[in-house]
Amino acid sequence: MGLTVAVTGPTGEIGISAVTALEADPAVDRIIGMARRPFDPSEHGWTKTEYRQGDILDREAVDALVADADVVIHLAFIVIGSRDEAARINLAGTKTVFQATVDAKRATRMVYTSSVVAYGYHSDNPLPLTEDTPIRGSQEHYYSAQKADCENAIAEIVDGTDLELYMLRPCIVAGPKAPALADAMPWRALPGVAQSVMGAVPILKMPMPDHGVPVQLVHHDDVAQAIALCATTDAPAGAYNIAGEGTVSLSEIGEALGARPVPFPKIGVKVAAEAVKRLPFMPSAAEWIHIGRTSVVMDTTKAHDVLGWRPQFSAQDTLGALAYSLH
Ligand SMILES: NC(=O)c1ccc[n+]([C@@H]2O[C@H](COP(=O)([O-])OP(=O)(O)OC[C@H]3O[C@@H](n4cnc5c(N)ncnc54)[C@H](OP(=O)(O)O)[C@@H]3O)[C@@H](O)[C@H]2O)c1
Repeated sequence: MGLTVAVTGPTGEIGISAVTALEADPAVDRIIGMARRPFDPSEHGWTKTEYRQGDILDREAVDALVADADVVIHLAFIVIGSRDEAARINLAGTKTVFQATVDAKRATRMVYTSSVVAYGYHSDNPLPLTEDTPIRGSQEHYYSAQKADCENAIAEIVDGTDLELYMLRPCIVAGPKAPALADAMPWRALPGVAQSVMGAVPILKMPMPDHGVPVQLVHHDDVAQAIALCATTDAPAGAYNIAGEGTVSLSEIGEALGARPVPFPKIGVKVAAEAVKRLPFMPSAAEWIHIGRTSVVMDTTKAHDVLGWRPQFSAQDTLGALAYSLH
C-alpha cells in the first residue's frame, strides 16, 4: 500500500511542481490538496490528486485534510502580501496545520517549507549559513519575522511527539512556473509597449542597482524534488538548506529580466533599508529591500550529503530558464 500525502497550498508556485513530483513517485498512491481558490487537478494531468477548497485557518477543514494522511506537506503561506494579512494567516494557519496533524495521530511525517529568511539579515550571521545558525528572523521584514516565528511554534508543537519533521529552508525559488522574482521587478508592471521600447533602447531601461551581494536561486523543479524526497526518504528528519549551485549577481538578474545594471554603494542600500524600517506608513512591499541588505548565502552540503538531494539547475540555469520563459 502506497502513501497518502496531504498538501496545503498545492496551487502555488512551489505547490504545482511539488504535486507534479509526488504524482511521479511510485511510493505515493494518493494526494489530497487544499487551498482557497477553485482548482481542477485534471488540468495538470494529475491522476492521483484530489483537490478541495479550504482555508488553513479553518480547523475543521484542516482536520478533514489530514485525517487519512501518512505524510502532511505544509506549503500554504502568504508570501507577497501585506504585513497585516500575512500576520493574520501565516502563524495561526501554520499552527493549525501542525496541531491538527499531531492531534489526528495518523501521519508519521511532516514536511514544511521554511525559508532562508528565517535566519534573518544579521551582520553577525556566519557565511555561508549552515543549518546550525540560530533562527533569528528580522523584525523589520514581516516575512522573515513570521518564518522564524513559525519555525519556533512548530518546534513547540512537535516537541515530545513521534512526528518526523523535515524543515526545508529554500532560497529564492524561480523558473518558468515560478515567475514571482520577475514579477517583483517594477518595470514589469509597465504596459507592454513601454517594455518593448525599453528593450529596444538600452538607455531607457530602468536601472538595477548592484551593491555586490551574491544571490542564490533554486529552480521550482529542484525544490519539488526535495519536497517529494522528504515525503519518502530514509534520510534523517531535520533542517535542510536548499539552493542551486553557485550564485548570480544583481546585475545578472537585472540584465536577464530587462533592466540596466548600475553599480551602487553598499551604504546606499543600508540607508534605504534603515529608512524603510523607521518611516511610518511604508507599504509592506518595501520591506523586501531588507533581503538584499546583506548576503544570505547558504551552505547546502547537508541536503546533498545527508538528504541525497541532487539539484539539476544551478543559480545561473534557473535565472536563464526564468528569463527565457518571459520572451
Ligand atoms: N517562492 C519562493 O521563492 C519561496 C522561497 C522559500 C520558501 N518558500 C515557501 O514555500 C511555501 C510555498 O511558497 P509559494 O512560492 O508556492 O507561495 P505562493 O505561490 O504564494 O502559493 C501559496 C499557496 O498557499 C495557498 N494559501 C494561501 N493562504 C491560504 C489559506 N489561508 N488557506 C489555504 N491555502 C492558502 C495559496 O492558494 P490560495 O491563495 O488559493 O489559498 C497557494 O496555493 C511558502 O511557505 C513559502 O514561504 C517560498
